[in-house]
Amino acid sequence: METTEGTLEEALAALSRDAEAELAATSTTDGLEEWRVRYLGRKGGLARVMERLAGLSKEQRPAAGQAANRAKATLEGAFSRRDEELRRAALTQAIAAEALDVTLDGRRPRVGYANPVRGVLAEIEEIFRGMGFGVVEGPEVEWDRYNFELLNIPADHPARDMWDTFYLDQDPQHLLLRTHTSPVQARVMEAQRPPLRVIVPGLCYRRDDDATHSPVFWQVEGLAVDTDITFSDLKGVLASFADQILGCKVRFRPTYFPFTEPSAEFDFSCLVCGGSGIQDGRTCRVCKGEGWLEISGAGMVHPRVLRSMDYDPAVYSGFAFGMGPSRITMLKYGLSDIRALWGNDLRLLRQFR
Ligand code: DAH
Repeated sequence: METTEGTLEEALAALSRDAEAELAATSTTDGLEEWRVRYLGRKGGLARVMERLAGLSKEQRPAAGQAANRAKATLEGAFSRRDEELRRAALTQAIAAEALDVTLDGRRPRVGYANPVRGVLAEIEEIFRGMGFGVVEGPEVEWDRYNFELLNIPADHPARDMWDTFYLDQDPQHLLLRTHTSPVQARVMEAQRPPLRVIVPGLCYRRDDDATHSPVFWQVEGLAVDTDITFSDLKGVLASFADQILGCKVRFRPTYFPFTEPSAEFDFSCLVCGGSGIQDGRTCRVCKGEGWLEISGAGMVHPRVLRSMDYDPAVYSGFAFGMGPSRITMLKYGLSDIRALWGNDLRLLRQFR
């Protein structure tokens, strides 16, 4: 970078050559800054050549001055192009380094296994949807009014003993854990007008805890109200359901519920022993030799329930049922102990992967 020899133009040409060669070899931003100071800085190469302008004659000065300015503009242009190139290269490199390989398979988080009752609930919904029923839900924390009063079970009614529950406050209006999904019948009738066709899956609670009763359990309620619903419709719907879900038969036994008249309990024929009650020469462990397993209750909606909903029983009639999907799950998989479904035993759950 010797610029003191020869004419000023020659010195500029030599300076430019050196500068451009070095610039091409510079590949870091630090190197680039050093280059800028060395050639374009206040005490850099170009400045030193320009100092020589003062020593030139008046005639020589304009041309030399123009040459110096051209050289300066050229070097500045070269500098900013190189600067831009380096920035772009750095960006490209950073993008390549941080690239995410989206072609890699995701890792499925292990979250365990769905309880078999979930699968049965989905099947129940599917079958009833196919018969024109909608699926609705209701609150698990319920008012006494819905759980009992509107279902024709006033405060002093002995039937309340069948549904002892957990009360959540001292208020006479009582908030409680619902003992069945039947309160949603009242909620649906209150919110809509006939024709109604719904099922209501949900959790229920009772003050029970023994081999065949868990304090929390699933129910699926059903309700159909229209101008011409009869007991035959109830039988037809439940028989078709039994056939579709397990390929089994259904039987009805008369019983009492405050919110239906007439009322029935219904059973499914036992799949495990084929209804004979005997399995492998012994009493069937699922139906206990009965040949049938109780699924739950049903009946024609009581006129008092209809009237409390402002439905005229002379115009409207309906059927209702409540069933235990856990029982259906037991039948479907041959389980002999309902508690297995609540036990969180992975050996059971793993079989339903
Ligand atoms: N809610 C009743 C129970 O839990 C079951 C039941 C019986 C529901 C008859 C109904 C019905 O809808 O009509 O014991």
